Amino acid sequence: MKKRQAELTYRKVKQIDKFTKQLLKNKQLQPAFYITLLQLQKDTNAALSFWNSVRNNKTQKNKPEVASSDKLQIGGGKRYMHGFVNLDIFPPADIIWDSRYGLPFQKDTFSFIFSEHFLEHLDFPISVNCVLQEIYRILKPSGKVVIGVPDGGKVIKAYGERNKKFLHKLRQQAYNRRQLPIETYSDIDLVNYLFRDQLENPNYTIHYWAYDKNSLENILRSVGFKKVEKYPFNPLYCNPKRKFFTLYLQAAK
Ligand SMILES: C[S@@+](CC[C@H](N)C(=O)[O-])C[C@H]1O[C@@H](n2cnc3c(N)ncnc32)[C@H](O)[C@@H]1O
Repeated sequence: MKKRQAELTYRKVKQIDKFTKQLLKNKQLQPAFYITLLQLQKDTNAALSFWNSVRNNKTQKNKPEVASSDKLQIGGGKRYMHGFVNLDIFPPADIIWDSRYGLPFQKDTFSFIFSEHFLEHLDFPISVNCVLQEIYRILKPSGKVVIGVPDGGKVIKAYGERNKKFLHKLRQQAYNRRQLPIETYSDIDLVNYLFRDQLENPNYTIHYWAYDKNSLENILRSVGFKKVEKYPFNPLYCNPKRKFFTLYLQAAK
């Protein structure tokens, strides 16, 4: 996109974002309209976050970043990792970047790439494929990628077996910071949580897709990864709060 055209698009998105925010202040909105506006605001928010960093020259679309470390974390959110290059669509990452546009690094840059509870926030299969292909491209031939996602298989099994202890723990984990009282969420909502979680916070990107070991392994292999296996939980990187329902796979070229 030419610079002037990009600038015009940016301004238009900013106007839409401002207008949407104003409309959302009205508590009497018809629910369907409210949801449409909320979704729009999530998209404009993410787009502005991305374009702001491009405009401030923190990241330049056509110029790959010079990586300050050979370890990369994607979608770490507030779990900023020292010693890593942290890339996320929102601060406090080092590189504010929407991974759906590709990853702004040269090929064979990183020896270790880590992401946890991020992949399920990408639409499947288009963006997921794009991001995994990019991970493959920027990983060194001797490198390793670790991907952690909510374990769809585990949650569905727990639901089928009415595993109260597991489901209670997941309910706390998934809903304890939500506006509605968690008692209103039933067991099936925990399954829904994995597949299409929504949240009123415009900075929260929704869940699009759930994975189990087979599906994650297949998609990793489909982009070229050869050695795909379970990754043993490592407290150095992985979030202990989510250990009980997270599936971690590691893969190499
Ligand atoms: C549920 S949070 C996980 C945060 C952290 N990894 C953890 O386990 O606590 C998902 C993260 O992915 C980021 N994210 C979602 N879509 C993204 C995209 N297209 N590109 C980059 N980051 C994205 C979000 O901003 C958010 O920080």
